[in-house]
Amino acid sequence: MQHESKLPEHFPEDVRYPRVLVEQYLKRFTDPNDLVLDPFMGFGTTLIAAEGMRRRAIGVEFDSTRCEYVKSLLNKSNADWVVCGDSRQISKLNLAQIDFSITSPPYMGKNHTENPFTAYTTTGDGYQAYLQDLKNIYAQIATLLKPGAHVVIEVSNLKHEDGTLTTLAWDLAREVSLVLDFQGEEIIVWEPTYAYGYDHSYCLVFKNNGNSMIQLSK
Ligand SMILES: C[S@@+](CC[C@H](N)C(=O)[O-])C[C@H]1O[C@@H](n2cnc3c(N)ncnc32)[C@H](O)[C@@H]1O
Repeated sequence: MQHESKLPEHFPEDVRYPRVLVEQYLKRFTDPNDLVLDPFMGFGTTLIAAEGMRRRAIGVEFDSTRCEYVKSLLNKSNADWVVCGDSRQISKLNLAQIDFSITSPPYMGKNHTENPFTAYTTTGDGYQAYLQDLKNIYAQIATLLKPGAHVVIEVSNLKHEDGTLTTLAWDLAREVSLVLDFQGEEIIVWEPTYAYGYDHSYCLVFKNNGNSMIQLSK
């Protein structure tokens, strides 16, 4: 997988996944006019792919500059589906029922101190609190999903400079599988490299079978 276009220079960090990756999952798990959710919209790859395939898509993004950028890329009617907000409160956003969700979340290493869910602008409560927040976000999303709807999360493990690892992909799979049924992982090979010391990441696939135990906790 590779990125296909450049971001404007005022966005120095490219955290996008490739549009073709999203398109493959949209083909597999959705039909035209279905409603797709990306709870960590970033630069809007999910919404751009959805627009091109005649799906409707809601993107929630914390960073208002990114929200404005994505709105400028979409048709007016689709730009209205960009929500500048906080996915930790996603159940309060009054969203409609969702047919499919795909995203790549903000990452955290096990010893990092900044909070990924405030775009690293505040100090967080540590890695376990981050995983708990992710679980709580997907517990809320589970209540919005139609029965049988799929969820895909693209994520990698992290190799750190001191030689240690954060098993982020494994830990995220474990947490989210407490609220959605885990269907398995699919390996995405990146060329020339991915990041964080790896040449690959994972798409974790979940399904809303409506029988997961939903527990919201802090
Ligand atoms: C890895 S990026 C997603 C990139 C996206 N897949 C793309 O192709 O552009 C994660 C995004 O989540 C956003 N984010 C972080 N915390 C958030 C929160 N609490 N609610 C919504 N978005 C958040 C970040 O600002 C960042 O843009």
